Amino acid sequence: MSRIMVRGGNRLEGTVEVSGSKNSTLPIMAACLLSSKPCVLNRVPDIEDIRVMEGVLRELGAGVERYGDTLVIDGSSVDSWELSDDLTRKMRASNLVMGALIGRFGCARVAYPGGCAIGSRPMDLHIKGFHKLGCEVYEAHGYMEAKSQGLNGCEILLDFPSVGATENIMMAAARAKGVTVIRNAAREPEIVDLQNFLNRMGARIRGTGLGTIRIEGVGELGGVTYDVIPDRIEAGTFMVAAGITRGDIVLENVVSEHLEPIIAKLKETGVEIMKCNGGLRVLGKRPLRPVDLKTLPFPGFPTDMQPQMMALLSLAQGTSMIVETVFENRFMHVDELRRMGADIAIEGRAAIIKGKPHLTGAVVEATDLRAGAALVLAALRAEGETFIGNAHHIYRGYEDIENKLKQLGAEIFRVD
Ligand code: EPZ
Repeated sequence: MSRIMVRGGNRLEGTVEVSGSKNSTLPIMAACLLSSKPCVLNRVPDIEDIRVMEGVLRELGAGVERYGDTLVIDGSSVDSWELSDDLTRKMRASNLVMGALIGRFGCARVAYPGGCAIGSRPMDLHIKGFHKLGCEVYEAHGYMEAKSQGLNGCEILLDFPSVGATENIMMAAARAKGVTVIRNAAREPEIVDLQNFLNRMGARIRGTGLGTIRIEGVGELGGVTYDVIPDRIEAGTFMVAAGITRGDIVLENVVSEHLEPIIAKLKETGVEIMKCNGGLRVLGKRPLRPVDLKTLPFPGFPTDMQPQMMALLSLAQGTSMIVETVFENRFMHVDELRRMGADIAIEGRAAIIKGKPHLTGAVVEATDLRAGAALVLAALRAEGETFIGNAHHIYRGYEDIENKLKQLGAEIFRVD
């Protein structure tokens, strides 16, 4: 297993370019299955989760070629609507092909993605949506199998604004007969990006980002060339890096509207953030103030930035509280931060963080992607050396993270 070593204490300074969004690229890659024409995706990050999704599309028969940060996906040769469990277990987001397969072929058979470190991650909202569109859905032997004699538009109310369920239903409904309306839909920027991609293919979708999405089904969808949006969570992670190291970092390739909840909360801690030549400049000069935060679906504070904020608040001058409302088990990083000297108490879905003047390097383990990112951030400030095990979790979602941090002045090394 790969490990990362960080020698803490350096202020990070300089410019970093944010990569394309993992959580936008994954559903858009799945959406390419809706067309029998090739699609060209630009600004695709070179990270493990994208490579897994490339394998998923190839297993279904699609052609997938990578040229630098460009992916060419040819859905004309897709000859299967069944996905084995080794791939869906490897990455939950593989289940996003289900909506596209149902939209294209009227059926799909995908193994249950299973839970992961942060929660059980059920699929009930996805299945309910497929059922409403006219699919018979059977769940047996660890698989979800959806079959239909043709999809018909309908009204769907999501109990929870699930990102994946919204995306899967959008992709299936894009090829249904008639109009589908999804209420209480997720409003994340990645959903808007998926709408823009599908509409570029010839779909007729509107309302993403506003909570109610209207999808008018069409017969065919064409091939397109498309640039995915920047990764707002990678951007937020580097913004915290500036705050935690008292650094001065300019982020390029960002969409500040996507970062509003993160910017607002970081400013409350005393981190200075200003627009700079189309990007953002982040200054961690002042001592950090404690803040309270609650994770919520967009436009609330993103759960994918919760571990990173906890690392930052471990060094604030006072007591902060974080409430995690989206996932039931997203505090796996707490034990590891405690090993570095953080003073954190868990009360159900709330974490009480008593800020300390410093953290110390230790041997820690990454338990999931964003927990791993939080440990890197804490290690950048901690006194001495930190060894982070199971670093493969981090490589799932952060492109070239060691070099990007090294260029900012961090002492960080991969220790295989
Ligand atoms: C997406 O996961 C993201 N992944 C996650 O990012 C992110 O944390 C999450 O949305 C929330 O913003 C990708 O986009 C690939 P959900 P997703 O369906 O779609 C419950 C990262 O670090 N739920 O919005 O799986 C579920 O249990 C990853 O990049 C149901 O109950 O998230 C959870 O509590 C981690 N039934 C909540 O909704 C369902 O059918 C949010 O899940 C579906 C979900």
